[in-house]
Amino acid sequence: MSYQTILFDHEAGVATITFNRPDRLNALNHEMLSEFKDALNRVSRDPEIRVLLLTGTGRSFIAGADIQVFLEFDPLAAQAFAASAHETGFKLEALPIPVIAAVNGFALGGGLEMAMACDFIYAADTARLGQPETNLGIIPGFGGTQRLSRLVGKGVAKEMVLTGRLLEAAEAKTLGLVARVFPADTFMEECLKVARSLAAKGRVSLSAAKAAIDRGFDLDLRNACLLEVDSFALCFASPDAHEGARAFLEKRQPKFL
Ligand code: COA
Repeated sequence: MSYQTILFDHEAGVATITFNRPDRLNALNHEMLSEFKDALNRVSRDPEIRVLLLTGTGRSFIAGADIQVFLEFDPLAAQAFAASAHETGFKLEALPIPVIAAVNGFALGGGLEMAMACDFIYAADTARLGQPETNLGIIPGFGGTQRLSRLVGKGVAKEMVLTGRLLEAAEAKTLGLVARVFPADTFMEECLKVARSLAAKGRVSLSAAKAAIDRGFDLDLRNACLLEVDSFALCFASPDAHEGARAFLEKRQPKFL
C-alpha cells in the first residue's frame, strides 16, 4: 500500500511513521487513520523492526481529529470513527517493541491520545499538548478521558479536559505526561539517538518489560508482582539473559538476539 497522508521509513531497526498532512497540521481523517493502521500492521509483521517512532511533518504532531469530518457525523458515524481510533491505540500498545511518540509540535485531541497510547512521549520544547475538545462542544473520543487520568491523575486530567487549555512541553513534563523535553532544533536527532540505543538492546527484555508494566498496571499489587516474577523468569528462556550477564562480567558489549 502506498501512503498519501503518512510517511513510512525503516532504517537499522528503527521504523518511523510521520503524520504528513502539514496544511491541516496533520489532523486525523479517515484516510490517515486507515493508512496509520496499515503501517502498524506492517511494523508488527517485520521482525527487523525493533523500535517505532511516531512524529509529524512541519509544526504539528497531530492537531486532533480533522474537524471537517465532524460536520458529517451522526452518532453512529461518530461511534465508528472513535472505535476505529481506539483499535489503533490498542494496536500501538500491543506491539511487542518500544513505541516512542516524538511530539515535534501540536499534540492536541486525537494527537495527544495517539501519543498517550505510545510507551512514552518525548516533546520538543516548542510543542503544545492538550485535549481541547470541550471547546468544540464534544469530549475526547480516542482514549483521552481514560489514558490521561491514568497518566497524570484524575484531578489534573479533569482540569485539562474541562478547560481544554494547551500545555507547554515543560508543564507537560512536570505533570509526568512527557518523559523528556529536548530543544526543537536537535529534537529528532535526540529521539533517534534513544531509538537506536533501544534497537541495540534485547527484544525479549524490552517486550517483557513493556508487557509487565502495561498488564500489571490495572492489577492489585500482589498479582502485579506475581506477574513480574513470571515475566522475570521467562527472560531466562532466552539466551539474552545469560549473554547480558556474561558480557558484563567479561567487560564487553552484549550481543542480544
Ligand atoms: N482539523 C481540521 N483542520 C485543522 C485542524 C483540525 N484539528 N487543526 C488545524 N487545522 C487547519 C486550520 O483550519 C488551518 O487551515 P486553513 O489554513 O485552511 O485556515 C490550518 O490547519 C492551520 O491551522 P491554524 O489554525 O491557521 O494555525 P494556528 O497556528 O493559528 O493555530 C492550532 C494552531 C493548533 C492552535 C489551531 O489550528 C487549532 O486550535 N486547531 C484545532 C485543535 C483542536 O481543537 N483539536 C481537537 C479536535 S477534536
